[in-house]
Amino acid sequence: MKPIMRLFVAILLTTGAITSHAEEYTIKFSHVVAPGTPKGKAADLFARLVNERLNGRVHVEVFPNSQLYNDNKVMEAMRLSDSRTTGIMAAPSLSKFVKFSRTIQAFDLPYLFNDIDDVHRLVDSPLMSLMTRPLERKGLKALSLWDNGMKVFSIRGDGPLKKVPDDFRGKKFRIQSSEVHAAMIRALGGVPQKLPFKEVYQALAQGVVDGQENAWSNIYSKKFFEVQDWITVSNHSYLGYMVVVSERFWRGLPTDIRDELRQILAEATEANRRFAREADSQDRQRIEAAGKAKVVEPSADEIAAWRKATAGVEEAFRQRIGKDLLSRIHILLGH
Ligand code: LMR
Repeated sequence: MKPIMRLFVAILLTTGAITSHAEEYTIKFSHVVAPGTPKGKAADLFARLVNERLNGRVHVEVFPNSQLYNDNKVMEAMRLSDSRTTGIMAAPSLSKFVKFSRTIQAFDLPYLFNDIDDVHRLVDSPLMSLMTRPLERKGLKALSLWDNGMKVFSIRGDGPLKKVPDDFRGKKFRIQSSEVHAAMIRALGGVPQKLPFKEVYQALAQGVVDGQENAWSNIYSKKFFEVQDWITVSNHSYLGYMVVVSERFWRGLPTDIRDELRQILAEATEANRRFAREADSQDRQRIEAAGKAKVVEPSADEIAAWRKATAGVEEAFRQRIGKDLLSRIHILLGH
């Protein structure tokens, strides 16, 4: 275009005499937990900030409580979706990514992390991109990692889970779709049973399973504590999430929108860590105050026995997760 023509078009655009056709985008954020949990709150904050700052260009709608999809279905929907203007976003737990990245199973290992600070050391390290890169080839763009917290065990029956394997023997435990979790339950002496999150309450209430493992906010918000008698503060592994979006949709977004979405996600991620810390203590207190399930702290000796019983799980998965990656994680964590 000649410079004079370019100037003419620029004047028409700025005076509104002609308008450029800007695409409008919709993001459907699907998750399985209650809105008041660390993931639910972070998803709502992300939606609010996008709807304010990208008003008219991007609209985010959040669908909690498995309303739209469960975690396995949402990943398939994301991978199959070819819409340029409507993107599906989700934050499934890390355990649900095993089909797409074997290395991510490291997060499921029992007692790999002493606490949430250990988890953040890994999440904030360059090792993280090694673990998420394979997802792109599978049509999923990894954007951020969100916390829920360290998991604890719950059970119904006469006594709490303290002694391994005696207190686990013959008991069925609901787990997520993770082979590492299955191996851990067997190592503790129990029987694992994989079930989608939305079926857990019924399964506990009807005695299909005896117990389960989860973070405090899920046990509270989904009322698992009302159908369980004991909670053991085992803090044996981590529950966290990867925020993902369809890779095709993400690649097709204009760069300025992608940049703004990244910035907003960074803010939502920072807030999520705060929400998770708060939920850990508040939801535990709420459960204790309700007086239904009794919360017990295992002794140092009992925890040592749990660690010892489950030590072989890492050994069994070392090849699949990657020997080199695991030793780099241990060096990073210093234990
Ligand atoms: C579970 O299935 O127990 C969790 O992954 C649910 C969730 O998203 O926190």
